[in-house]
Amino acid sequence: MKLSTKLIHGGIEPDPSTGAIMTPIFQTSTYVQEAPGKNKGYEYARSQNPTRKVLEEALAISENARFGLCFSSGVAATDAVVRLLSPGDEVIAGNDMYGGTYRLFSKVFAKAGIKFHYVDMLDIKNIAGKLSERTRLIWIETPTNPLMNVVDIAAVAGLVGQKNILVCVDNTFASPFLQNPIDFGAHIVMHSATKYLGVHSDVIHGCLMMNDQALRDELYFIQKSCGAVPGPQDCFLVLRGLKTLHLRMERHCFNGEKIAHFLRAHPKIGKVYWCGFEDHPGYAIASKQMRGFGGMMSFTFKDDSIDLAKKFLSSTKIFALAESLGGVESLVNHPATMTHASIPREERIKNGLSDSLIRVSVGVEDVDDLIDDLSGAINSL
Ligand SMILES: Cc1ncc(COP(=O)(O)O)c(C=O)c1O
Repeated sequence: MKLSTKLIHGGIEPDPSTGAIMTPIFQTSTYVQEAPGKNKGYEYARSQNPTRKVLEEALAISENARFGLCFSSGVAATDAVVRLLSPGDEVIAGNDMYGGTYRLFSKVFAKAGIKFHYVDMLDIKNIAGKLSERTRLIWIETPTNPLMNVVDIAAVAGLVGQKNILVCVDNTFASPFLQNPIDFGAHIVMHSATKYLGVHSDVIHGCLMMNDQALRDELYFIQKSCGAVPGPQDCFLVLRGLKTLHLRMERHCFNGEKIAHFLRAHPKIGKVYWCGFEDHPGYAIASKQMRGFGGMMSFTFKDDSIDLAKKFLSSTKIFALAESLGGVESLVNHPATMTHASIPREERIKNGLSDSLIRVSVGVEDVDDLIDDLSGAINSL
């Protein structure tokens, strides 16, 4: 099956008891057993739920993986991966990534004795330089949030080879429509399904996909032992969202391209970060590992001031000022004070995340309306 068909049908059978074409929401906490140990494969809903099971299968298929596991948020999914490690183990992560991931690593797991190295992953040598006997995980975000850097997944997987090191890719920005990291040698794919998979900005959800049975079993053990599982209604919403991912992503890409070019041509705009520009440093790799460039981008003003950024953010009418991304509606965000506020300013500026940087999640509205909105807000400054 091709991707569009897989997204609609993958892992889904009509409900055996009624023929319902859409997987029902099994809103139950437990299951009646015939006798101790004699049941229909479901014992207690933290460990198993039929709606979640169907979604896990569908998500695995969307990422060309054998297994999927769902969590109550993207952060909970990331948390489960790091829980595979032991004190003294080391992680190599990018120096540009979602602020909440950085917070989890640096404020929660660092205290538990896990050592994190943050490097510029554009140059593979920086990763190679931090590899040690204790390295157990390489955490990649690509494209990165919010600077849209592109990391060569196959090159990182090649570096690791047969070593006992997991390569995990946060694929939230690309979605399975644009990129399938397992095809390039990653061991785990992670998504904040709150974003492109959930679609309508009405659910918080996360997931992990992988091929290796033993790795799946370890992560399943963490899922049920730590208990960060999503409710069945949330699983239903993500399952529904997945079915139209391909249609929406085509529009996100179309609108994204037009808006990136509009911003770049505007005299008040400084830099535009979008990996579809041919002169973007990651363009060649993005063209190799992605099927399109998406609707995520960031830009700065020539006058790089927080005040100007704030004024702009209060001036748009269609673009809503909000954290999150990937929904049908267009959003703008100020990483320095919102999604990435947990990163110290010095660190942020050093990594290129400047004060006036605005992150844009281009939605699926009419692109002319979106350009008019941005143009009105920028020209009013
Ligand atoms: C790239 C990325 N990864 C992970 C997360 C965390 O996901 P959640 O908010 O679903 O916990 C986010 C949230 O914004 C994100 O943008």
